[in-house]
Amino acid sequence: MPNVYASVALRAAQQPPWTSLEELYDVCDNLRSRPPLVDSTDCHALRADLADVAAGEAFVVQGGDCAERFADSAAHRVEAKAAHLTSLGDRVTASTGLRTVHIGRLAGQYSKPRSSEIETVADGRRLAVYRGDAVNEPEQTVFGRRSDPRRLLLAYDHAATALSALRPRSTYTSHEALLLDFEEALVRPDDAYASEYASSAHLLWIGERTRQLDGAHLAFAERISNPVGVKIGPKTTPADIATITRRLAGDHAPGRLTLISRMGADAVADRLPALLEAAGSYADRIVWLCDPMHGNTCLTASGEKTRVVTEIVREVAGFFVALRAAGVRPGGLHLELTPDAVTECVDRPEDLVRTRPLPRYESACDPRLNPEQADFLLTQALSLL
Ligand code: PEP
Ligand code: CO
Repeated sequence: MPNVYASVALRAAQQPPWTSLEELYDVCDNLRSRPPLVDSTDCHALRADLADVAAGEAFVVQGGDCAERFADSAAHRVEAKAAHLTSLGDRVTASTGLRTVHIGRLAGQYSKPRSSEIETVADGRRLAVYRGDAVNEPEQTVFGRRSDPRRLLLAYDHAATALSALRPRSTYTSHEALLLDFEEALVRPDDAYASEYASSAHLLWIGERTRQLDGAHLAFAERISNPVGVKIGPKTTPADIATITRRLAGDHAPGRLTLISRMGADAVADRLPALLEAAGSYADRIVWLCDPMHGNTCLTASGEKTRVVTEIVREVAGFFVALRAAGVRPGGLHLELTPDAVTECVDRPEDLVRTRPLPRYESACDPRLNPEQADFLLTQALSLL
C-alpha cells in the first residue's frame, strides 16, 4: 500500500530523498506485518506516570544520544545507558522525594532532522547529510549517504534488540517521530482506547523543525493514543501553543501532552512566560520539560559543534524561574548524554577558544554530556528546584 503521507495534502517536512519509493512501499508492507515493538498497555502506563508528573508527584529524566547508532542496540550498551538514567533519577528522588520517571532517547532514536541537505566534508567534497542510521550512514561516501529504505527494517530489528535488553528495567523508550512512513507502518489498534497507537516507542515527540501546524507530523501525533511530546523553540508563538494544546491535549487528559522547551539560555526568560500563559487552562495538565541542549549549540574555534555546560545550567535556571512565576511545576529534564567519558561538550565559555580538536568526540550528531558533566548539571538543577 502506498504511504499515506505521499497521497494526502499535508506536507511532511524533513523526509529523506529515498533512493526508491517502490522499495519504500515494500519495506512499509513488511513492517506492517511485524509485531508491535511496544505494547499499548505500557504506553498507557507511561501516560499515567506523566499525569503524576503534571500533578507534581513525579519528575522526568529523559535522555540519551542525539542519534543512536545501530551498534548501540547491543545489550551491554543499552544496559549502561539505562543504568546511567536510573542513577540520575535516583539522585533526583534522594534530593526531592519525588518518584522519577526514566525515559530513554533509546531503542529507536535512529533518524535526524537536518538544517541543510548537503554538507561539505574536510576534503571539499559535497555529500548528502547523515540523517540517522535508519536512513543512511555517517561515513563520508556517496554510497553511504544514500537514503536507503531497507535501513528501516534494520531500524525495527535494532529497536527490538535494544528493547529486549531494557525489558527488566522500568525505563520507557522515546524517539523523535520523524520518518512518517516508518511510524505509520507501525501504527496498531489500541483496543483499550478504541483507537490506535504508535507501536515503535512508548512516547514519541515532534521536533522543532517538523511541528508546523498544517503539517503531517502534528496530524500524526493527534491520531495516536500514546503520550506525545512537542519541542518548542524560541520562534514558537502563543498562537502555536494554543493550537498545539487544543489539538493534542484537547480532552484535558493529564499526561497526554509534554511540551519540551528548548529556547536557549539567552531566550528562555524572554520567550517562555508568554507561552506558559498561552497554555491557559491546559498549563497544569501538561508536562513541561526543559531541553537545555538544543538552544545552546555553538562552535569551538576549531569549528567543532559543542555546548557549554554553564550555558546549559543557565537555561535550566531560566526555565525554573519562568515556571515558578507562572505557578506551573517543572516536569523534568530532556538531555543528550552518554555513560561514556566523551569530551563533546565543554565546561566553560573560555574553553571555546581551543583550536585543537576535542580529544574524544564520538557523537554521530549533536554533542552529549559525559557522566561528570551530567552530574554537575543535575547538582546545579537540584539546588535550583
Ligand atoms: C533533537 O532532539 O535531537 C533535535 C533535533 O531537537 P530539536 O527538534 O529540538 O531541534
Ligand atoms: Co540533538
